[in-house]
This record gives sequence, structure tokens and C-alpha cells, in this order.
Amino acid sequence: MQTVVVTGAAGGIGTRLRQLLPAVYPSIRWSDRVRPADLAAHETFVPADLAVMSEVEAAVDGAQGIVHLGGFSTEGPWETILQANIIGCYNLFEAARRRGVERVVFASSNHAIGFYPRQRRIGTEAPVRPDSRYGVSKAFGEALASLYAYKHGLRVTSIRIGHFLEAPIDERRLSIWLKPEDLVQLIRIGLEHPDIRCEIFYGASDNARGWWDNAAAFRFGYRPQGRSEEHRDPALAEQAKLPADPVGDWYQGGPYCSDEFDGGVEHAEV
Ligand SMILES: NC(=O)c1ccc[n+]([C@@H]2O[C@H](COP(=O)([O-])OP(=O)(O)OC[C@H]3O[C@@H](n4cnc5c(N)ncnc54)[C@H](O)[C@@H]3O)[C@@H](O)[C@H]2O)c1
Repeated sequence: MQTVVVTGAAGGIGTRLRQLLPAVYPSIRWSDRVRPADLAAHETFVPADLAVMSEVEAAVDGAQGIVHLGGFSTEGPWETILQANIIGCYNLFEAARRRGVERVVFASSNHAIGFYPRQRRIGTEAPVRPDSRYGVSKAFGEALASLYAYKHGLRVTSIRIGHFLEAPIDERRLSIWLKPEDLVQLIRIGLEHPDIRCEIFYGASDNARGWWDNAAAFRFGYRPQGRSEEHRDPALAEQAKLPADPVGDWYQGGPYCSDEFDGGVEHAEV
């Protein structure tokens, strides 16, 4: 990989990756519509609004790989999701095709499958069950990834990120935690592995309470280092302070499922 573009550079994950990725890829172009406040003189930054195709094309021009983190990263009004995550994601893949970028790693989310009950263990072949407009936009991004892989020959990897943080912060996060260094491993597989075509991986560390079968990632050599049980006691202590959430506690997507929920708990799917 000569040049890698990372969108969403000013965000939480982008800011952490600005510490971790330069050791792996010598030429990284960081992009966002907002300039990172702590941008260093040696870092290359290209401003681009994902909703504006010409800006996205200019940002990815000449790159071999893209790590697409940019977008609205939580539930929000439809118009916001539409601009940043639907139009923005289309622009990203289409710009990659037009400018001959070979690989895209897409930051998908566990919220694409949030309406599976916690007692169900699922792999990447289970149909999507988004828990929010945000989750729908991630399922849309995964569909775009597939279209551009099979129709246009891009090599794409969608990573359904659980929760990216230095340590898991409550009971749900013990199941879905992703240690930052483990995300770097998954990104490297997506950008470098010769057999990548169109893959979906779970962005999860070695979580004993995990709900996902991540065999697809393991086949490509993923060996997560983070072990959430090492953080169990503080995470469960934080959980004890939270109010009960009958719907959110049942489903994998947690509060994204109970938010705006009026489906009736009797419909809770096993
Ligand atoms: N943090 C997590 O645990 C987690 C979990 C699942 C998925 N993800 C996904 O990973 C990605 C990064 O997450 P994050 O936590 O760093 O999010 P974040 O909200 O901190 O950062 C997102 C960045 O995208 C930029 N952005 C938003 N709209 C844009 C637009 N129209 N054009 C250009 N840039 C735009 C924002 O300025 C921001 O800097 C997101 O796509 C998110 O959905 C994150």
C-alpha cells in the first residue's frame, strides 16, 4: 500500500488511528470535513465533505486503499443519516471506482444486526437486522461494498465494529469490545491480504461473552489480543449503576433497540 486515505480522521477512531497507523503505512492522507484540532505538521490532511462527490474524488485520487470511517456515527434524524451515510457512502465507493482505488475497508457497525437477541450466536451470513436508521445505513454500506466488489472488482472489507475503546465500559461492551490494536489488525487484513474479495468481519476482540462467530476473520489470520474478561469487574460495576432496559438488555443492539421502540416486548424474538 503506497497511499492510504482515512476518512473520518477527526473522529474518535480516526484520532486514535492517527497514533497507530503511521507505523504501518508510511503515506497516509487523513480526510474529514472537520480539520482535526491536533493535526501535526507532518500529517497530510485533505478536507472533504462526503456528501459532495467532487470533494471525495479529489480526496481519494491516487490512493491504493481507503479506510472509510467518516459519517454520522450514531442514531440521528433521517436527513442527517441520508447525507452523511447513504449519499456519503455511495460517493465514497463511486469515487474509489472512478479513481481506480483497489481496496476499501468500510467501518460498518454491530447496529446492522442489533435486533438479534443476545442469546443468539450469529455469523456474518445471518441476514441484517438493523436496530436504527443508523444501522440501516451500515447495512446499505455493506450492500454497496458487495456491489462494487462483484461488479467493479474492488477488494472490500466491511468491519462490523462492536465498541472501539481502550477498555469495555459495561456489560454489553464486554461482549462487543474492540481493542484499538485489534482494529489495526483487521484493517491490515482488509488492505493487504491477497485473498480479500468481499468480506464481512466482526470488529470484536477476544471476548469470552461475545455473541458473534468471527470465523471469517480468523480464516484471514485475525488473532485478537484484547480480552474483555480482564476488564470484567469495573465494567460490571458500571453496569450496576445503569437503569434496567427490558428491550435494550434483550437485544444485541442495546439502547439502539429500545430507543423509539413501540413494537411490544411480547414480540421479542428468540
Ligand atoms: N466508535 C465505535 O465504537 C464504532 C462502533 C461501530 C461503528 N463505528 C463506525 O466507525 C466510524 C468511526 O467512528 P467514530 O467513533 O470515530 O465516529 P465519530 O463520530 O467520532 O467520527 C466520525 C467522523 O466523521 C466525520 N463526518 C461526519 N459527516 C461527514 C461528512 N458528511 N463528510 C466528511 N466527514 C464527515 C465527522 O466530522 C467525524 O470526525 C463511523 O463510521 C462509525 O459509524 C464506530
